[in-house]
Amino acid sequence: MSPKLDFLDDVWYCGALGEELGDVPLGRTICGQPIVLFRTAAGAVAALEDRCSHRQAPLSLGRLTGDTLQCGYHGFTFAANGTCTHIPRQRGIPGGAAIKAYTAVERWGLVWLWFGAGAADIDRIPALPWTTEADRRCVYMRYEVAANFQLMADNLMDVSHTDFLHATTIGSKTAAPGTEDDATIELDCRVVGDRVHFVRRVRDTLLGPVATLWAGSDKRVDRTNTLMWEPPNTIHSVLEFRNDETHRTIHLDHIMTPATETTMHYFMPWTRDFGLENVDYMTDDDVRREQNLVIAGDDIPMVEAQQRNIERFGHVMDVPTQQDRLVLTVHRVLAGLFRERGLNVPSELQRIGRAAPG
Ligand code: FES
Ligand SMILES: [Fe+2]
Repeated sequence: MSPKLDFLDDVWYCGALGEELGDVPLGRTICGQPIVLFRTAAGAVAALEDRCSHRQAPLSLGRLTGDTLQCGYHGFTFAANGTCTHIPRQRGIPGGAAIKAYTAVERWGLVWLWFGAGAADIDRIPALPWTTEADRRCVYMRYEVAANFQLMADNLMDVSHTDFLHATTIGSKTAAPGTEDDATIELDCRVVGDRVHFVRRVRDTLLGPVATLWAGSDKRVDRTNTLMWEPPNTIHSVLEFRNDETHRTIHLDHIMTPATETTMHYFMPWTRDFGLENVDYMTDDDVRREQNLVIAGDDIPMVEAQQRNIERFGHVMDVPTQQDRLVLTVHRVLAGLFRERGLNVPSELQRIGRAAPG
């Protein structure tokens, strides 16, 4: 039995980067479901349960044959809609040989899956138009994280950790230990429907080394982080650096998909409006190297340690700060979406105390 996972099923989940689907099938657990993803000869993306109906071998160990996927064990062959189209050395296909197919759509360089019983509305796929704009350049990254997807989402919405956990990379220098915090911070948080908008503006701040490179200035800058969260846990973040010698913008889209209760997939299109020639600094490889320093070097180890600690301590309650307003608001909105649908509210949404920070 696949693990039981409480998740909203009437939203789209990102299952893969488009560039991951090539000549071989890709097996991946998504929202607790073992799934095989592949691309047909015509270029369409497809998703099936990762199980052959003959003797239950994973189809992700099979091979692509034109528009179909052939099991690597005895050769049962399946179309993108889950129909069994061929059994070697046999005429006819027995009833029950078809397997489950999922709705899969490729958009904005990502492969999206729909698990709901209702009609899949492709207009509800999160929009990332900046990834394809001519005056920007996008790099696609992906991480596996051994933590509940809410912990990673909370990390990305919790911009106040940036100056501490990332003090040596993308943090602002003002909050580093032993330095004077003379920057002013402004926060603004608003809920529109089932989306949450948040702005954090730090004026006249010095930047850590990586942020200095991204900003293109080692002088003080105004740094603005504008975020929009949408369910289940996609965070569109626009990072803007501005002073009298620079004005640069980076779109970081953090798209989180649960794998199991304690593991997740994290997809991140990273779109810049500078270094478009991809020579000298900054190149796509610079983006990957520097972003990996931050995400794989700082965030993921901390979030995975947090997951292990929550398991060690059992049911413990968080003490929120004023800067946790976005996280608190998102938890409230998301818990409401689960309740409206008669679903259990996941435990990760129940750990923050009700007391509002002062
Ligand atoms: S298990 Fe797939 S063909 Fe036998
Ligand atoms: Fe971080």
